[in-house]
Amino acid sequence: MLFKLTDEQKMIRNMVREFSRKVIAPTAAERDRTKEFPAGNFKQMGELGLMGMMVPEAYGGESADTVSYVLALSEIAYSCASTSVVMSVQNSIVCESLNNFGTTKQKQQFLTPLASGKMIGAFGLTEPDAGSDPVSQATVAVKDKDDYIINGTKRFITSGKHAKVVLVTAKTDPDAGHKGISCFIVPKDTKGLIVGHEEDKMGLRASDTTDLIFEDCRVPASWMLGKKGDGFKIAMSGLDSGRIGIAAQSIGVAQAAFDAAVAYASQRRQFGVPVTKHQAIRFQIADMATQIEAARQLMLSAASMKDRKEPYTKEASMAKLFASEMVNEVTARAIQMHGGYGFTKDYVVERLYRDARVFTIYEGTSEIQRIVISNNILKDKRK
Ligand code: CAA
Repeated sequence: MLFKLTDEQKMIRNMVREFSRKVIAPTAAERDRTKEFPAGNFKQMGELGLMGMMVPEAYGGESADTVSYVLALSEIAYSCASTSVVMSVQNSIVCESLNNFGTTKQKQQFLTPLASGKMIGAFGLTEPDAGSDPVSQATVAVKDKDDYIINGTKRFITSGKHAKVVLVTAKTDPDAGHKGISCFIVPKDTKGLIVGHEEDKMGLRASDTTDLIFEDCRVPASWMLGKKGDGFKIAMSGLDSGRIGIAAQSIGVAQAAFDAAVAYASQRRQFGVPVTKHQAIRFQIADMATQIEAARQLMLSAASMKDRKEPYTKEASMAKLFASEMVNEVTARAIQMHGGYGFTKDYVVERLYRDARVFTIYEGTSEIQRIVISNNILKDKRK
């Protein structure tokens, strides 16, 4: 690996690798079939400090750097992408936003239980008619004395069913564009917050994705995260961090597909020799390894820029764009290398191919990443 890891980063990666392959991997295929949410995994991951890795120790986290976090997340994704998406949203977006924008009281009340893994968090930005363009969202929050009353529907919310707390964006000034959006911390048992339709998805089947419906949902004004009108900024900066996490998930899944393909090809014989003796397979292996390594370097580079507190929006989008496109190609190639067997549920590559498909879509499509990257290079906006 070109990027030089510290001893501590290597130690964290190795510890999570061992845990992930021993505890998470054996039940991943079963979870894919049954869609069972891996609550037990999250309990153990919380005990290991994986559910709020970058949260300061003062709030029960590990004060880990981003590089360690993405290495850990890749290792979890290697074994179970469904488990990794919950870990990613929890760490990258929910904990990160609370840590960056929360008051001491909000952090004590919400960040500490999140960091310990006792509480799962969700992030509610997307709506039925506002996906790539979150400024056009329709959810509103109207001030009523010391409270806000929230009305609207959020869609495709990761952990919508199992989360105990949701960070939700809503318009507090519908005529002010992105400056009219605020963010609220809403515990799931708040009256008027209803879990709606649960999606039946192609992949990530053990992670629940639901609608969240807010019907006259009353929250105290003190649960506003950041200042009034900060909601879009909070969401965008959370997504910067989240996008490095999607790169990490992509790399974990790609590495798993690659390892499976190499293992399969090494024992599969055709034309009297192992298929790895055929140049067609050798070149596939070379291309896949190069693609994964390139993505890993982009991920580590973006993560270390974040750790150095440098602007990293463009690099996070580059890592997400490249890694998510890469994993779709690598998992497709891994199936091809398995031949007909790769098309069956007997081989892990079938699940990995399905799990990877959403990585170019959620937390900003590939097209959105290209907008973010080009906006940052050209320093103006598209028309
Ligand atoms: N950090 C902080 N602030 C940011 C920012 C960032 N990364 N990016 C933009 N902003 C600020 C800008 O500075 C600007 O503020 P000022 O006017 O004060 O200067 C403001 O936000 C508006 O910026 P833009 O004009 O660039 O915004 P836009 O409306 O053109 O949208 C966009 C930009 C990149 C298209 C953005 O809307 C976007 O990222 N869309 C995709 C949304 C997305 O990724 N959704 C995923 C859903 S969440 C999910 O999938 C989670 C899950 O559960 C797995």
